[in-house]
Amino acid sequence: MTFPSNAANAAHSTNAADVRARAAAVPTGLPGPSVPHGGALVSRMLEGEEARAAAGQAEELRGLPLDARALADLEMIATGAMSPLTGFLGGEDYASVLESLHLGAAYEHLLWPLPVVLPAEPRQARALRDGEEIALLDADGRPCGLLTVEEVFVRDLGREALAVYGTADPTHPGVAATLAQPTAAVAGPVRVFRLPQAEFPSYHLTPLEVRAACAERGWQSMAGFQTRNPVHRAHEYIQKCALEIVDGLLLHPLVGATKSDDVPAATRLQSYEVLFERYYPQDRVLLATFPAAMRYAGPREAVFHAICRKNYGCTHFIVGRDHAGVGDFYGPLDAQNLVRSLAAEIGVVPLAFENAFWCRRCGAMATRKTCPHPETEHVTLSGTAVRAMLRRGETPPPEFSRPEVAALLAAAMRD
Ligand code: ADX
Repeated sequence: MTFPSNAANAAHSTNAADVRARAAAVPTGLPGPSVPHGGALVSRMLEGEEARAAAGQAEELRGLPLDARALADLEMIATGAMSPLTGFLGGEDYASVLESLHLGAAYEHLLWPLPVVLPAEPRQARALRDGEEIALLDADGRPCGLLTVEEVFVRDLGREALAVYGTADPTHPGVAATLAQPTAAVAGPVRVFRLPQAEFPSYHLTPLEVRAACAERGWQSMAGFQTRNPVHRAHEYIQKCALEIVDGLLLHPLVGATKSDDVPAATRLQSYEVLFERYYPQDRVLLATFPAAMRYAGPREAVFHAICRKNYGCTHFIVGRDHAGVGDFYGPLDAQNLVRSLAAEIGVVPLAFENAFWCRRCGAMATRKTCPHPETEHVTLSGTAVRAMLRRGETPPPEFSRPEVAALLAAAMRD
């Protein structure tokens, strides 16, 4: 197994020993070098005859429609990406997550930063009875799973927004999405017999499939990389720094719902395809999609992203500048500071990076930790600035985006 050896990661060397111990403790038969959160990879998928029977049963039951975010959550619960969750959270777990970033007693108070809840319209919620089995409906209104109602409870959306996002400002896209939801939530374990149609089937790998691919390649350590943007030089730089440390890299672009001005998932994935072929060692990188919806919850979402990637088999997790942030709501290092402070409980080694940029004097990518030159020598562009350039018909400079990606973004903007 390879471990962090560079100066930037020296602070985590004790965690590396933990990772070695955890790798030795991976449950027998489960491929991949990490132990899932809570010790076991959850599966709430039904197969074969059980799935057929459940699908038949669902036709007879009361149905609850799920929006895109809830469907993404359902898939992540069903495949174990959200282990140890076996269903949508009840009131006790919900309150505990908001207050303390930990689940309640039923989940042994495990670290968990985001409330994974199933909102329901008040009229529907009122009609449900505890213990009742309901059908979960996909975007076309077709049943895809079952939920056993354990509880219907009321969320305090304002309090939730403050706890999760650190603000109740409705201009924050995560806050706006939360405040737009009905307050009633339906809790209970789920069983899924049909996953939503994947938008990118060839990259759609479950945690077990990613683990198997990692084991097949003989990787003893794997770093996860979360992204919701096209791949720019800064991303590539921190990914490749990570590759100097670990055996393999899981490039894991998020393909669930994002805010409307983010680059569409198809373009983002294309940017990865073009770079992957030309600039990445193919035997050391696995490109797969992460089905979650984006919350823009900065620090809390970074912890969530790290835990999920551990469930996919990662021993390390890359967390850079303003991870899962939006606008100026979070400081550039807030997310990585929270991940670092909770690293032992998360159970992955954080690979933390400060803002990376091209330095004209260095003639290379760098961060403040490696470059002595003034900011005037640095090429840095915000996402907003890049979008504005593209709208004006300009392409971002090669120091910011590789020409292949710049061309792709310009073409996508023209379409
Ligand atoms: S995110 O919302 O998914 O975090 P993005 O796709 O931009 O957004 O970032 C993916 C990862 O790269 C995150 O860990 C983020 O912190 C990191 N990152 C993005 N840009 C930079 C940069 N210029 N310097 C350092 N890290 C960066």
